[in-house]
Amino acid sequence: MSSEVAIRVENVAKSFAIYERPYHRLLQQLFPNARRGWHREFHALRDVSFEVRRGDTVGIVGRNGSGKSTLLQLICGTMSPTSGRIEVNGRIAALLELGAGFNPEFTGRENVFLNGTVLGLSRDDIEGRFDAIAAFADIGDFIEQPVKSYSSGMYVRLAFAVAINVTPDILVVDEALSVGDEAFQRKCFARIQRMRDDGATVLFVSHGAGTVLELCNRAILLDRGDCLADGAPRQVISRYQQLLYAPAERQAELRDAIRNDVEIVVAPAAGDDSAAEAPDDAYLDPGLQSQSAVVYPSRGAQIIDPHIETLAGRRVNVLRPGGVFVYTFRVAFEQAAACVRFGMLIKTTTGVELAGGVSALAYDALPCVEAGQEFVAQFQFRCLLAPGTYFANAGVLGRDGETEQFLDRRVDVAMFRVMPDTARLATAYVDLDMRSTVHATAVPGNETYSG
Ligand SMILES: Nc1ncnc2c1ncn2[C@@H]1O[C@H](COP(=O)(O)OP(=O)(O)O)[C@@H](O)[C@H]1O
Ligand SMILES: [Mg+2]
Repeated sequence: MSSEVAIRVENVAKSFAIYERPYHRLLQQLFPNARRGWHREFHALRDVSFEVRRGDTVGIVGRNGSGKSTLLQLICGTMSPTSGRIEVNGRIAALLELGAGFNPEFTGRENVFLNGTVLGLSRDDIEGRFDAIAAFADIGDFIEQPVKSYSSGMYVRLAFAVAINVTPDILVVDEALSVGDEAFQRKCFARIQRMRDDGATVLFVSHGAGTVLELCNRAILLDRGDCLADGAPRQVISRYQQLLYAPAERQAELRDAIRNDVEIVVAPAAGDDSAAEAPDDAYLDPGLQSQSAVVYPSRGAQIIDPHIETLAGRRVNVLRPGGVFVYTFRVAFEQAAACVRFGMLIKTTTGVELAGGVSALAYDALPCVEAGQEFVAQFQFRCLLAPGTYFANAGVLGRDGETEQFLDRRVDVAMFRVMPDTARLATAYVDLDMRSTVHATAVPGNETYSG
């Protein structure tokens, strides 16, 4: 069923020759078989394999230099792999890093035609789409100016306008959008969303975790040329963030842990709860355990047993909407710490941060804690969330010199559900105590009315 596969990447590796001195490149060309090499190989990608099905929206994340742009260039065919195979089914439109794509000497208009032709459109076809492209780019008369006079923002506007108006089967976007202004970014994301809904395959690199969570049904984590994780965006993003924030000496260990975590468990959908015959009051469902908890490397403190309780101290994880509950955890300090405070955060299953709290303002933090001490943090809250499944984080912060940092941090450590509420008029996640009134202000066939 190869037509179901939009992109197939098979054992792909890419290495670059690195020369210590510029003249080494020349020596290498003059004496390619010399006993001593004049360069060393740098492996930008090694043995990367994955398939993207048609209609998938895949976010590629990873630290700088991890090989994301290289991978996209290989997929778009602007570079070939050192080994391995890449198969692409369908017409691909790409927004690679700045510099690729346009001829700087040509005007915007000429580049639109050039670009459209490269993408396989006829002149008439491009003619027919030109106005839509110019309107989307919204760069005014600059469309008649050589591209070399464009600002980076204008360049991206035009490049994006072309890429999405040629109705590609596959859209590839490499961080380019982070250049544009926010309003334009929004417009682009709305458009990508629409293309996705129309069945296009989208592959994009983004630094923004939120964008990947919002847009993608899958994410891939690259790190130093290796594909470390591939799966549900929320899990992959949390592993990426774990890697981003880990101290240098823990990196290798963490990379192995992430890589060996072959099966990434996808959180249960918010809808599939069996609360139909559930009791009225909050209760404990032992099966409701977070499968995706992420434990950050500790810096001298341990968070213990984060959970939710009723005011009477009964442990619960299925909450009655509107009820008051306490989120609590203990923290054991193995090392002394300064300016300590505690925090929590509630997120949706897709990672949207809904609500959180800290135990104190920074200047009000516990000035010093001694090694061996233990504390209990409690966060009382009213459950104003829509029925569904949620995750909670727990954190403890301390000050190291001028900077505040996590002494311990657990992401998605507690999972809970909010019971269905048939009487609920509020929509979306949070009930702002919305009260609506409706009254008629005009009566048909009646000239005089009062409103
Ligand atoms: N043409 C090249 N020659 C040499 N090294 C390169 C070349 N292109 C990329 N690299 C190196 O490959 C690694 C991956 O780069 P890249 O794919 O741009 O990473 P990312 O997009 O994830 O930041 C980096 O260390 C980069 O320096
Ligand atoms: Mg890059």
